[in-house]
Amino acid sequence: MSNLRYLTAGESHGEALTAILEGMPSGLAIDEAYIAAQLHRRQQGYGRGGRMRIEKDFAKINSGVRFGKTLGSPISLRIDNLDWKNWQQKMSVDGSCEGQPVVTVPRPGHADLPGAIKYQHEDLRNVLERASARETTARVAVGAIARRFLESFDISIASHVMQIHDPESKFSLIDYASSNDASALIPIQEINNRADASPVRCLDEAAAQKMIARIDEAKEKKDTVGGIFEVAAFNVPIGLGSHVQWDRRLDARLSAAMMSIQAIKGVEVGQGFHVAGVWGSAAHDEIYFDDARGFFRKTNRAGGIEGGISNGEPVVVRVAMKPLSTLMRPLASVDIKTKEAVEAHIERSDVCAVPAAAVIGEAMMALVLADAFLEKFGGDSMKEIEERVERWREASF
Ligand SMILES: Cc1cc2nc3c(=O)[nH]c(=O)nc-3n(C[C@H](O)[C@H](O)[C@H](O)COP(=O)(O)O)c2cc1C
Repeated sequence: MSNLRYLTAGESHGEALTAILEGMPSGLAIDEAYIAAQLHRRQQGYGRGGRMRIEKDFAKINSGVRFGKTLGSPISLRIDNLDWKNWQQKMSVDGSCEGQPVVTVPRPGHADLPGAIKYQHEDLRNVLERASARETTARVAVGAIARRFLESFDISIASHVMQIHDPESKFSLIDYASSNDASALIPIQEINNRADASPVRCLDEAAAQKMIARIDEAKEKKDTVGGIFEVAAFNVPIGLGSHVQWDRRLDARLSAAMMSIQAIKGVEVGQGFHVAGVWGSAAHDEIYFDDARGFFRKTNRAGGIEGGISNGEPVVVRVAMKPLSTLMRPLASVDIKTKEAVEAHIERSDVCAVPAAAVIGEAMMALVLADAFLEKFGGDSMKEIEERVERWREASF
């Protein structure tokens, strides 16, 4: 990420999360309510634990915006952790750890053990507080600003859940290709509304019921489940990313962004894994042209990216999330102090977070696409960029 940079900071039970976003041009209309709506979406989903009932996430804009518009200066955001009031002693910035509980039993699948060895911590809380996906609240907040930027160029982003444990949805965003019969599909503007209304972000009602039952079963068994979600961006212009250098390829940038989300273990661009097992003639998207539409495709197996460059079709990624690592029926572990075999530490936990991860995936896609968009059409102000986009559209064939 070169044109748009961001950093997040904050511990899960610390006082607040902080984010700084740099590179947003001046003149973009943004307000706290818009960001809050995205944060609210991240907090939803069947299978979440008690933490989401405590938090009502709200990002306060501390800098970079004046009278409702970006200034071009770094935008800093602060999200208070409401749970902090219950953790002030345990997470105190100053004073001593004397008398405070210490976590010494690492949970398999978490950063607990490698993090403690790497940073030489005797209390695993010093690792798990930052490794927690609470951090993604800050990413969704900065991602909301990137999303607002893309929306001003009519680019929209949507997500839905394809699979939780084994139940699978029949709906796929791959089915959206430029020449497809749109009337047979859920209208693009409706995808997120319908997914937001589903407890599991699933657009196939029969599959959604099975997913809910599977989450209930996991809870009953004191186990956890993972799954697969899809994220797509619509109306992405041809030409974002580049084939000329490895780190400029749009598919590589999107994959890295998705893999950076906690518990994500696999990313597929378009039908990536499926096409590995079919003939080449059934793997690609044939090219057509007519005067009204210009170049178009009848399929979108490539997920809108060829040679690391957006090709004008919807940009679609599929993302696999592992089952959450904290089990209420703990896995085997070893106490780092005594080296005795014991059961893993239990920390308050979700049973399933795939729906929330999909919303985080949208934020990550927004950040990558906004960065690539600025790379192509860059400028310091919205006005400058709008003029460049306009000129490019007129010149495009
Ligand atoms: C939205 C979201 C919520 C999560 N909630 C939990 C949770 O409640 N309990 C848990 O053990 N892991 C949870 N995780 C996953 C852990 O953060 C993740 O498994 C851990 O950081 C180790 O994963 P890694 O190997 O990908 O780093 C969540 C992940 C996401 C994206």
